[in-house]
Amino acid sequence: MRVALGVGGGIAAYKAAEVARLLVQRGVQVRVIMTSSAQEFVRPLTFAALTGQKVITSLFPEGGAEGTLSSAVEHIGVALENDLLLVAPATADLMAKFAHGLADDFLSTMYLAFPGPTVLAPAMNTGMWQHPATQANLATLRGRGITIVDPESGFLACGMVGPGRLAEPESIVDAVLRKLSVRRDLEGETVLITAGPTQEPIDPVRYISNRSSGKMGYALAEAAVARGAKVVLVSGPVSLNPPVGALLVPVRTAAEMRDAVFQHLAEATIIIKAAAVADFQVVRVAEQKIKKTAARVSLELDPTPDILLELGRRKEDRLLIGFAAETQNLKSEARRKLEAKGADMIVGNLVGEGAGFEADENEVVLVMRTGEVREVPRASKRKVADAIFDEALTLRLALYASG
Ligand code: PMT
Repeated sequence: MRVALGVGGGIAAYKAAEVARLLVQRGVQVRVIMTSSAQEFVRPLTFAALTGQKVITSLFPEGGAEGTLSSAVEHIGVALENDLLLVAPATADLMAKFAHGLADDFLSTMYLAFPGPTVLAPAMNTGMWQHPATQANLATLRGRGITIVDPESGFLACGMVGPGRLAEPESIVDAVLRKLSVRRDLEGETVLITAGPTQEPIDPVRYISNRSSGKMGYALAEAAVARGAKVVLVSGPVSLNPPVGALLVPVRTAAEMRDAVFQHLAEATIIIKAAAVADFQVVRVAEQKIKKTAARVSLELDPTPDILLELGRRKEDRLLIGFAAETQNLKSEARRKLEAKGADMIVGNLVGEGAGFEADENEVVLVMRTGEVREVPRASKRKVADAIFDEALTLRLALYASG
């Protein structure tokens, strides 16, 4: 999930840093846009450090740098790539601009271009808040379906006591997550996820591996963090950043993956094996680089440890979900693997064009121990991850609720 966080120029701008931190902690990617007045109160660096992303500080490149078409339309790009626009603190000036469609800086321009839901958390002096102009703007914005996180009453920086203080960061974040329909239904769960390929060395420079990018496993980790779970992500070598809040356990070989999984098994309540584990490992790994020769070379291979099979035997009442990447007979292969490995669910993906390995999207069939089968149509791997968790929670109720 991506949220654009607009920060207006008010004394409460410093509290927006806590809002950004809490959103990041819940697995949300945050892109901060600061008005020029906001930068008088807090430095952009604070937000860049908290979000790991460049902060947008003006509509045009700064310091007289040469403008480009892409910099001139960046507000459109930012508008389209985010799922929600949050403004905290929303000043009286920003609310007036939004209400009347004025667009003279990045944030107000982006607001007009933004097609998604908007949440405003106003903060200002009591008199400004109660002024008929502000209240009229507020009514206009509410009428457009914008969510307002009302300011609280209390002691204000200007010395007055009354309504106008920015709502608590937790309340603002709750409103955002509610608007994004994020469920916190994995709170209290520890989800152990494997992702990516394994690499089985042949010699110091060569290895056996596969095309897994880790995108499916990382999407599952991102969804689990956002839904409130503690996440242990055992990952083969990939070039992705783990979601903030997940514990990353990097591994290389199938044997290392097995050891890492069993080290964390005791704390896990749900296990998802999205990794594409190499099926074979080299019997004798050469200590030195094997020299090229004209003659045929053979490699002797042993099977790798079957982690899913071992988990199936040792899982007790944990929910165990495996994956199956197939090129044909998806449902029957998924059912065969479910039974052979003792899993509760197998996520079958037909690998091919635009889905499965390396792709940003997936299209899967969920084969359950109850006999049920559910098809998840093609969608982003993140959406598919949410569908897997939805089904997993229903499945666990069916399998274990009666004790
Ligand atoms: O990483 P991406 O590019 O996003 O691609 C995602 C994916 C296609 C890799 C993923 O969705 C997927 O299907 N992963 C499993 C691929 C696979 O190896 O399938 P399999 O049929 O070989 O294995 C079946 C199950 O047994 C898997 O859960 C696998 O993790 C597990 N296994 C396999 C071999 C082994 N030695 N130990 C295992 O635990």
